[in-house]
Parts: sequence; structure tokens; C-alpha cells
Amino acid sequence: MKNILVIGSTGQIGSELTPELRRLYGGEHVVAGYIRGAEPHGELLEGGPSAECDVTNGQQIAEIVQKYHIDTIYNMAALLSVVAENKPELAWKIGIDGLWNVLEIAREHQLQVFTPSSIGSFGESTPHWMTPQDTIQRPTTIYGVSKVTTELLSDWFHVRYGVDTRSVRFPGLISYVTPPGGGTTDYAVDIYYSAVRGEKFVCPIPEGTLMDMMYMPDALHAAISLMEADPAKLIHHNGFNIAAMSFAPETVYAEIRKHCPDFQMTYEVDPLKAAIAHSWPDRLDDSCARAEWGWTPRYDLASMTVDMLEKLSSRMKK
Ligand code: SER
Repeated sequence: MKNILVIGSTGQIGSELTPELRRLYGGEHVVAGYIRGAEPHGELLEGGPSAECDVTNGQQIAEIVQKYHIDTIYNMAALLSVVAENKPELAWKIGIDGLWNVLEIAREHQLQVFTPSSIGSFGESTPHWMTPQDTIQRPTTIYGVSKVTTELLSDWFHVRYGVDTRSVRFPGLISYVTPPGGGTTDYAVDIYYSAVRGEKFVCPIPEGTLMDMMYMPDALHAAISLMEADPAKLIHHNGFNIAAMSFAPETVYAEIRKHCPDFQMTYEVDPLKAAIAHSWPDRLDDSCARAEWGWTPRYDLASMTVDMLEKLSSRMKK
């Protein structure tokens, strides 16, 4: 039986990943790690053990690993791209110094570790259409620099010490549960909130800007199925491209209008977000993930839009 620690359990991904892991492995086997000021509440607090776990505090992580006999860590602590650009030192401290702590503990205790990478690990010089698995990665954001470093450091601990490190490059993630904070792809979540509230949406990303996106249930499924994959079949370990859909603002707007015909959108471009979005791929090639561990997404833009509008509407009525 697995005993799992989720670091960053109250964040954008952790707040949905933790309950899903508890559903699969049993509540008592999944520890929700949180930082002060972002304590778990409700189901996250009641569904299993929780512990203060600051990724920058190696001693704290080591104590939790020993206390709960942890064999698997999902290291979800990170700042998103726009916030990171404004707080680069903190982004590095959490993303890389924190990862170092996790990997050192994983080496000592032979733990399995998942640490997400992102479409943000690519840059201007990367081929933008059907971006290959192994290609140029010269990002121009600190977020991207930390994600490339995450992939390399995770690979190095695997090659050098045999630590079972695994990761995917997440696209922009869309969910009706926990809103993201300070990402370049956040507009694709915010637009659904505006539609359900009956408000006009002001889009910060220019028309025609394609980015990979994914519905949260697919993202959770990707992380968990990669961690469960047969290691003998893995050629890569870290930074798997995964893809589900790629769209520009006008495409998601048109899809939402099929259900909310009065919905309106205008543009007020944010230069920082536009520059970051422009440097990222338009569409990833995820054939290695499909071949090595059977990745397949379940949601496309049409089915995600139906589900998002329905679930957000019922949450907002409560
Ligand atoms: N969603 C992230 C961001 O926009 C990208 O991985 O920062």
C-alpha cells in the first residue's frame, strides 16, 4: 500500500489531487501537506491526515516522511508564471531549493517523486507546432527556467542515485474547484466564471494566441497514471509532453457562446502575459506519453465546456 505526501495540497492542483489520491488509496494513506496561511479546510482537512509542510524546510519534510512511513511524494509547491516573474527569488527558492530538499529525502528513503513541469519550460526558439518531446528548451521566464531545472534535476537524481522521479509538462489547467493564481493561462478559467456570472469578459491574451489547455480531471489522471506506470516501459521519466486541446481566446469564447448566446468578450491585452504566451508552444506532440504509459485525455473543448458551465453554475447557486 502506498503512503503518500502531497506537498502544496491546498494549491491549484493539490486541492483536487489530494482527494482523488485519497479516493484511490484510502484517506489515511494520503497526508495533505500545507504551509501556514494556506491550511486545509472541509473535505481536505477531514478526509485524512494533514501536516504543516513547507517545501523549503527539509527537516519538516523528513519528519513527516518518517512519521507517516511515506513512500511517495507529489511535490506540487510552486508559483505560477506571472507571480514568479514578479517574485523570482521566491520562485527559485520554492521551485528549486524546495525540490532539492524533496529529492535528497527521496534519495535517503528511496521514495517515488512526482514534480510537475509545464508548457512554460519551452521558449521562443522551440518549434511551436506539435512541439516534440525532446527539443530546444530555452525559456525566457524564471518560471520556465525553474521548470527546465526541475526536469534536469529530477532526471539527474534518477540517473545518479536511482530515485524514481517522474513528471509531465502540464498545459494550462482548467477547473471549477480552486481558481489558479497568477498564471498566463488563467484567462481560460476566468472566462467561464464571467460567463456563469453573466458578466462581460475582458481578455488579457491577444486574439489568435494558441496555448495547450487541459481539464483538471485529465491532469489528475495523467499524474496518477504516470506514477503507476510500469517502469520497464518508460524511456523518459521527467517532462512528458501531454496534450488534450489547444485553443486561442476567440475559440473558447465561441464555444461558451453556444451555451450562453448573450455572453460578450473584449480584449485588453496585458503585455507581460502576452509576451509569455507568445513564447510558449501552440500545440504539444504527446506521442511519447501515449506510447510509453498509455496517456489519453478524456475531455476536449466541447465536453469540458459543458461540464465547466454546469458545475460552476451549480456551485455558484449554493
Ligand atoms: N498554468 C501555468 C501558468 O500559466 C503554466 O503551466 O503559469
